Amino acid sequence: MKKRFAIILAAGKGTRMKSKKAKVLHPILGRPMVEYIIKGLQDNHIDIKVSVVGHGKDQVMNAIGKQTEFVTQNEQLGTAHAVIQAKEILKDKEGTTIIVCGDTPLIKPETIESLFQYHESSLSEGTILTANMSNPFGYGRVVRDNNGEVERIVEEKDANENEKLINEVNTGTYCFDNEALFNALERVNNENAQGEYYLTDIIEILREQSRKISAFVCEDTNETMGINDRVALANAEKEMKRRINENHLINGVSILAPDNTYIGPDVTIEQDVTILPGTMINGLTHIKTGSIIGPNSEIVNCTIGQHSVIRQSVVKDSKIGNEVNVGPFAHIRPESTIGDEVRIGNFVEVKKSDIGNESKVSHLSYIGDAELGKDVNVGCGTITVNYDGVNKHKTVIENHSFIGCNTNLLAPVTIGKNSFVAAGSTINRDVPQDALAIGRAKQVNKEDYATRIKNKSKK
Ligand code: UD1
Ligand code: MG
Repeated sequence: MKKRFAIILAAGKGTRMKSKKAKVLHPILGRPMVEYIIKGLQDNHIDIKVSVVGHGKDQVMNAIGKQTEFVTQNEQLGTAHAVIQAKEILKDKEGTTIIVCGDTPLIKPETIESLFQYHESSLSEGTILTANMSNPFGYGRVVRDNNGEVERIVEEKDANENEKLINEVNTGTYCFDNEALFNALERVNNENAQGEYYLTDIIEILREQSRKISAFVCEDTNETMGINDRVALANAEKEMKRRINENHLINGVSILAPDNTYIGPDVTIEQDVTILPGTMINGLTHIKTGSIIGPNSEIVNCTIGQHSVIRQSVVKDSKIGNEVNVGPFAHIRPESTIGDEVRIGNFVEVKKSDIGNESKVSHLSYIGDAELGKDVNVGCGTITVNYDGVNKHKTVIENHSFIGCNTNLLAPVTIGKNSFVAAGSTINRDVPQDALAIGRAKQVNKEDYATRIKNKSKK
């Protein structure tokens, strides 16, 4: 098999996005668009991958990480100028080079593989991935000669009225014989409407050199969408969401309103999970069988156990056990571990805490930097007072303890096992096991006081 190389164009500013962020970093379902194309290339047995970076270089390199090598395009003078930057790495190599744009994230790995195979089996030296778009506005058009052979590509801004009527567009993805590519690039000039070095010009150059040029048509025009502005970005997100949700539906996940459910590309969900409307699930999240998520919940980087229910709640960077009930309106913040059969009820916030199996925090509480054992019952309105204005401190509540309503636990503090804390207490000393702690002012009743005041005001 011939060697395969890839060049990913990711240096452009993306002026039409009207954003401070480099275009290729704009996310689709939480993942930067350039990452879709790079992850997709993993399936295509490519020997060397080179990303061309420039605008927002550091952030783009950070997002791509070790998945490719990098070259820098200091000034964004056009797509041909971008590809030339990869010369230092690829110039003497023999094989096929695929060029992909960082702004076409919907192309499937299977389509890339078909393009490679078509290019190699037809012994072409250049193959353009084309698509027949009903609205080709903005794309380069594929101009064919009287025999139907590809002659050249003309950009929207340089096209005449007749050329603008052509529906077959350049998708910005191509395979080239590597040596022919770098040879032709030397001849590209910038005499065009945008004053840029167009990669598309090399089609005409290669033809003049009598090299074989082909076009491979991608049937699904959704795949080849180029994201140049936020309208296209929204359309791409819609298409990616449809694909991902359909995949989960086929795998046995119930999604009641797929149009209104946003699941990221790295989320894994077991069968017989139900996702209710208005839910966003992102990051490296795994949801185990039988759980019900939503409506209107946000889950990021979490593991959710079996048969758990998360209603109208936000859960981030945490682990939730089996048969847990969260919400409605709970907030579980990062680094929390919730055991099995736990209840985290309405208006409860949990932060960086471990909650043991069978424990309950049912209403209106803040549990931060805490460790709760097994079968602990935390009454309504309990607050772990974890912050003294300078440092954070830990609260420990041991197994089978019962915390009465409206209690402040001033950390650092430990409530021993099997103990009770009376409602309304402020606890600032450790409570031994099996004890009852009461930390509140003693009640005083003043007999007939109310009557006396009322009578006084009547006079
Ligand atoms: C390009 C094609 C057009 C095609 C369309 C498909 C050219 C001249 N035109 O147009 O025929 O129909 O893609 O979506 O190639 N980039 C750089 N450095 C630069 C300029 C661009 O790295 O100097 C990168 C961008 O980050 C982007 C990609 O190249 O990922 C394409 O650039 P863009 O400006 O979006 O080109 P289009 O106008 O979409
Ligand atoms: Mg583009």
